[in-house]
Amino acid sequence: MRTGLWTVVVSVAFAAVGLMSYEVASQAAKPSRAPTASFKEDVFPIFKGRCIECHTPGGKGFEASGLDLTSYAGLMKGTKFGPMVIPGDAQASNLMALLDWRVNKKIRMPHGGKKLSTCDRDAIRHWINEGALDN
Ligand code: HEC
Repeated sequence: MRTGLWTVVVSVAFAAVGLMSYEVASQAAKPSRAPTASFKEDVFPIFKGRCIECHTPGGKGFEASGLDLTSYAGLMKGTKFGPMVIPGDAQASNLMALLDWRVNKKIRMPHGGKKLSTCDRDAIRHWINEGALDN
């Protein structure tokens, strides 16, 4: 009789622990799915402050490359040679190579200016890795 009761108590306790850890795991999995980076809030303000003076129709960056950074559509269209952003893959995106200064001095961006902060570059990188959404 006594052993029987303990078996029940112990298995109920194990079931409760199992249920709790299942809930913790499913809660932890949810936030990582929703994008945390926003084009409007995190990326565009950087372009606005550091790039648009040249990358707008009539500006010297636009005239030389065809890249218009005044809108999401302009960024995704890229230059006259092709796209600069590969959604989901910042490492392979030419935009990041230019901003991280992994390219020839002449095409490092901002052209002739100061390198973007690590924080700004990581914000753009993060947004690209999350799919480069128009959000
Ligand atoms: C002072 C003007 C100026 C500023 C500011 C500037 N650019 Fe440029 N950008 C240029 C010029 C000029 C070119 C053409 C370079 C060339 O091909 O020789 C260019 C080209 C580019 C290209 C295309 C490179 C290629 O391979 O054709 C990208 C991408 C780019 N810029 C991104 C940016 C970003 C992002 C910023 C802001 C962080 C920025 N630029 C700021 C002048 C500027």
